[in-house]
Amino acid sequence: MKTYRIAVIGLGQRIAHVLGAMAEVGWRLEIAGQTDPAPVGAPILEGFGIAQGRDFATPQALLAAGPYDLVMVGSPNHLHFEHLNLALDAGWPVFAEKPIVRTQAESLALAARLAAGRTPSLFLGLVMRSMPIVREVVGRIDAGDLGEIISVDATEHLPPEHGGYLARNWRRKQAWGGSYLLDKVCHDFDIFGRIAGARPAKVASFGGRRIFTVERSESAPRNWDTGEAAYAFDPGWQGANDAFQSDMDVTDHQTAMIEYENQVRLSFHANSHVGLTERRWYVAGTEGTLIADLVRNRLMVRRALSRARPERIDFGERTADAHNGADQAMARDLLASLEDGAAFPVTPFDSLEAGLTVMAIDEAMESGEVLDCRPMWARYDAAMSSASPSRS
Ligand SMILES: NC(=O)c1ccc[n+]([C@@H]2O[C@H](COP(=O)([O-])OP(=O)(O)OC[C@H]3O[C@@H](n4cnc5c(N)ncnc54)[C@H](O)[C@@H]3O)[C@@H](O)[C@H]2O)c1
Repeated sequence: MKTYRIAVIGLGQRIAHVLGAMAEVGWRLEIAGQTDPAPVGAPILEGFGIAQGRDFATPQALLAAGPYDLVMVGSPNHLHFEHLNLALDAGWPVFAEKPIVRTQAESLALAARLAAGRTPSLFLGLVMRSMPIVREVVGRIDAGDLGEIISVDATEHLPPEHGGYLARNWRRKQAWGGSYLLDKVCHDFDIFGRIAGARPAKVASFGGRRIFTVERSESAPRNWDTGEAAYAFDPGWQGANDAFQSDMDVTDHQTAMIEYENQVRLSFHANSHVGLTERRWYVAGTEGTLIADLVRNRLMVRRALSRARPERIDFGERTADAHNGADQAMARDLLASLEDGAAFPVTPFDSLEAGLTVMAIDEAMESGEVLDCRPMWARYDAAMSSASPSRS
């Protein structure tokens, strides 16, 4: 294997962890250069023993100093569109963090560009696609083990420290993060679309901010058991001082319902400040049911008419970062794609569709109405077919 010369745009916590996972699974890599006004990920990278590389003032200067074997984009979400376009212009393979972009307009413009072809490989960090438990879920559904999928119930409930981080970090602002669901659960909605095997036809959503509010602020909140200061961590780029008194304008809890074009129905519940954390998908088909517990990395499956004990698979590999080995699995997938041309588990179009799904949910929440998604998909398909006669 060659040593990969890597350029990084946005050396935050996430890209530092991805680079660390790449090194852990055997990549030979060197960060040839990076651009970031205040690299939050520097100490993490140092912890992995990876040198930060030459510092460039702008992405343009960094890219002009190529060639590189891989350009990695890990900036906040509002910069993805600009940084992705610059990286695609440069012509080397690109790995970009999710969500692929932040708005519908950016999604359509990028869809048109990608559909036109002539772009380098683009790999998206929808890391759950690489998790063994998720591969098993998708594999079982594709094999018909559950019969026809009828309905899905899913959750993601975060511990208070994580919610507090979202309330203080740049993700608290729509202008930077997009929305709570776009930043946090575009992963899940990507997989739900894959499970349903169709695009959403109608969505509804209710949500708001009732946790991280000024009324609920305490002067010095403490963890009940340890007495340690609560919500005390480095909030990073554009961070706010106080989780309860920031200028946050995204939701801190939200529910959503989807009816897919093929009549699969799904309900979703997210809360960012709970005592019992959960990320769980309950998938009910005509022939069987599964529960994927993504926090404990366990799968349970049983045929609908079976009286036997449910089949239980424990995927182990639970890690403190709650990714349960997913980063390492994705690092292997990325290497296999670059070395051998193996298919990466998620495409840029999957990523765009997951993002648009979440944006439609947020639009439905804002309007308080059930949103008909057909006009949005018509615009998306038109953007792609206008760019590429072969896709029309
Ligand atoms: N796939 C996953 O599971 C996962 C997990 C966490 C974050 N993410 C994604 O990774 C991205 C980064 O998130 P993070 O948690 O690392 O945030 P972070 O705040 O730790 O890192 C963002 C970095 O971008 C830098 N930055 C700001 N403006 C910049 C600019 N103009 N040019 C270059 N760099 C700039 C900041 O200084 C910071 O170092 C986001 O898109 C986020 O959604 C993905």
